[in-house]
Amino acid sequence: MLTSTNSPIVAAYMAKTPSSAAMHAEASGHLPSGIAHDSRYTDPYPVYVARAAGPRKWDLDGNGLIDFYGGHGALLLGHCDPAVTAAAQAQLAIGTHFGACHAMELGWSRLVTQMVPCAERVRFTSSGTEATLMALRLARAFTGRRKIIRFLRHFHGWHDHMAFGVDNHFDGTPSPGVLPELAAEVVLLPPNDLAAVKRAFEGDPDIAAVILEPTGASTGMIPTGAAFLRGLRETVTAHGAVLIFDEVVTGFRVAPGGAQQALGVVPDLCTLAKIVAGGLPGGAVAGRKDILDWIDFDVSASKGREKIKHQGTYNANPVSAAAGIAALTQIRDGDACARATAAAAALRDGFNAVLAEEGIPWAVYGEHSVIHFFTNPDGADVDPQAWDANAQPVAVFKADPRKQLMAKLYLAMVVHGMDPKGPRGAILSATHGEAEIAEAVQAWRLALRMLKDEGELRH
Ligand SMILES: Cc1ncc(COP(=O)(O)O)c(C=O)c1O
Repeated sequence: MLTSTNSPIVAAYMAKTPSSAAMHAEASGHLPSGIAHDSRYTDPYPVYVARAAGPRKWDLDGNGLIDFYGGHGALLLGHCDPAVTAAAQAQLAIGTHFGACHAMELGWSRLVTQMVPCAERVRFTSSGTEATLMALRLARAFTGRRKIIRFLRHFHGWHDHMAFGVDNHFDGTPSPGVLPELAAEVVLLPPNDLAAVKRAFEGDPDIAAVILEPTGASTGMIPTGAAFLRGLRETVTAHGAVLIFDEVVTGFRVAPGGAQQALGVVPDLCTLAKIVAGGLPGGAVAGRKDILDWIDFDVSASKGREKIKHQGTYNANPVSAAAGIAALTQIRDGDACARATAAAAALRDGFNAVLAEEGIPWAVYGEHSVIHFFTNPDGADVDPQAWDANAQPVAVFKADPRKQLMAKLYLAMVVHGMDPKGPRGAILSATHGEAEIAEAVQAWRLALRMLKDEGELRH
């Protein structure tokens, strides 16, 4: 525990956030670790947020924080976007669940099929995890094959096929609670390795699908280029399998039509969540009609085959649909993706300039509106302003094992007024402007100086 380290950073964090400490102490009596999502686990305790607006949020003690987590990437338009809020409020007033079809689901699906290149049809789910689960089931039914290729470190939610090989169990063994028989149906390959994909297909005729995050593992932490995606597209087609882009983060963020539009490679299926529902709960699987036809009653009957069943109490929930329509309409008709991308570029430049000025051989990188911190665990010779993530071997991107440094880095950033995506990066919205970038750059400088003062930055 960091509380036993006599760290001024930890002391400053605790002095600033007493109400969060008190709430977490009580929450720990009700929730495992006192939290509702693993990413919020924080030593000594997480910050509790009371309200948010645009690019900012405020904790229980009234501390303002520039928000660089953006609802886990769901809030491209920032917190409480006026149109999204009004649409959701209007829908709340006339019904939250009709137990029936409604016009909102039509309007929502129309936007998805207009905007997303692969989307001939769309089926809504309640989350990204449900969307990737259904995508795999569709691919298996469509191909009549069993196995799925996934790439190490790529994240696709927490269901049984996806719960290993992301930040542990890199050998493909199942994590607790997952059946070994099921894990054995997943072929885990190194990221960006087309030769390995070809070998896997050549050695096994039972591969139904390849699923990946199209901009790279863990929201682009290990970047994947368009050339790899083009090679993958060709290989998957040649072997009669289904290519699935997991666009839960990249969809409607990287471009209005997602990474598939930006990178010019169209998958057979894609999975969506987060922005698709305007920051409310929701997800979707979208893609080729002949694949989604496996959920269609009449097509299945006409082909004499059993359809895939798909229920879900909150599929296309009217409030999520209303928020989704308001968000997607703005993204389609405006420049939200471009503004968020420009803000992230400014933040990267500002952070890298600070690293150079402070003589710290780390680098801040990323594409579009996502940024990652490379904290250089092996002490390589790094010029922050010249470091090219795309030129690095995959092994460079291993998780930094210096747990204390990483934990303190996050706390120090909160102490100085920003709440990033833990100690590993940030995700921006179209509402982050010059003021937020300037404040964040200063916060980054002060946080790094605190780490230096504690002797944590030996390289
Ligand atoms: C790429 C990717 N796929 C799937 C998921 C799972 O989505 P959800 O949290 O909505 O279940 C996430 C969540 O962060 C994600 O980043």
